[in-house]
Amino acid sequence: MIAGGVPVRLEEIHVRYPGADRAAIDGVSLSIEGGALVVLLGPSGCGKSTLLRTINGLVAPQSGRILIDGREITGVAPEQLRRGIGYVIQAVGLFPHMSVAQNIAVVPELIGWDAAKIRTRTDALLELVRLDPTRYRDRLPRQLSGGEQQRVGVARALAAEPRLLLMDEPFGAVDAIVRLALQDELRRIHEALGTTMLFVTHDVDEALRIADQIVVMRAGQVVQYGSPLHVLARPATPYVAELLDAADSVRRLQLLRSGDAMRPLPSAGAAAGWPHVDAAHTLREALSRLLDGADCVAVDRGDTVAGVLTFDDVRRALAAAA
Ligand SMILES: Nc1ncnc2c1ncn2[C@@H]1O[C@H](COP(=O)(O)OP(=O)(O)O)[C@@H](O)[C@H]1O
Ligand SMILES: [Mg+2]
Repeated sequence: MIAGGVPVRLEEIHVRYPGADRAAIDGVSLSIEGGALVVLLGPSGCGKSTLLRTINGLVAPQSGRILIDGREITGVAPEQLRRGIGYVIQAVGLFPHMSVAQNIAVVPELIGWDAAKIRTRTDALLELVRLDPTRYRDRLPRQLSGGEQQRVGVARALAAEPRLLLMDEPFGAVDAIVRLALQDELRRIHEALGTTMLFVTHDVDEALRIADQIVVMRAGQVVQYGSPLHVLARPATPYVAELLDAADSVRRLQLLRSGDAMRPLPSAGAAAGWPHVDAAHTLREALSRLLDGADCVAVDRGDTVAGVLTFDDVRRALAAAA
């Protein structure tokens, strides 16, 4: 299908709503790599939705620059801008009197694709979000579960082959089990398409589960920007530590022992030069060593090296304990 995603750059963005006594976005700068899945995380009111809406032109910043694929978007007509950007919100907003296929085809029709191309594309998208086209194509939104509606919402946002997808708490209204399935699906779709994705949530576990990079926000500012493992093991401020404290992953990191997550050494003597942790040390301590720049950590039992840990091992152990 489509491939690739655009880089997005924010430079010193300030947004203040009319009549508000403080800024909703207070000097945000961010550099997002093309093809990354970046999660904006923070409590209600910290400015996550405003930042997304600024990127797709629904909100105009008082100052600052936004560059999508290296081009500044100020001055681009909002309609034109939005056609190249997929947008998914919690209240899916499917048109109730249109079939699933018609809903997905809205933007392709706007931009003048022919019927055959739209039909092929619609079916391919339904397959991508794991809805059988023959069963779902002609249904109305009210004939779908909440999770299925969200899948159609994602398919619709991807219809015109955007290279940037913005998602604002898209899974906030579905129950916990469906939500986990949708998170896994989104990761799979992201890996298949490589679209740059910006995903807003206030759910720490959701952020840790799907993100390549997490942007932790507070009161209109970015307080930390890093990989999930980095944010987990090295919260930048007490605020970040407190925010993450409720997350299962943090508890798991502190409960799991390095000795339980390690793999056997690839060869005797392989551990020369690696940092060491004890098998009884928590995974958080092992992770902390890895974040210092080592690719591998040697895990000791007594005086002998018993195994090895890498980032992938830590990630796998966390997922397995979930
Ligand atoms: N349309 C609006 N008009 C005025 N103030 C708004 C509007 N939308 C959001 N705000 C305010 O801007 C701040 C950030 O809101 P928002 O971006 O919706 O945060 P979040 O998505 O993180 O919950 C909040 O103080 C909110 O009350
Ligand atoms: Mg919001």
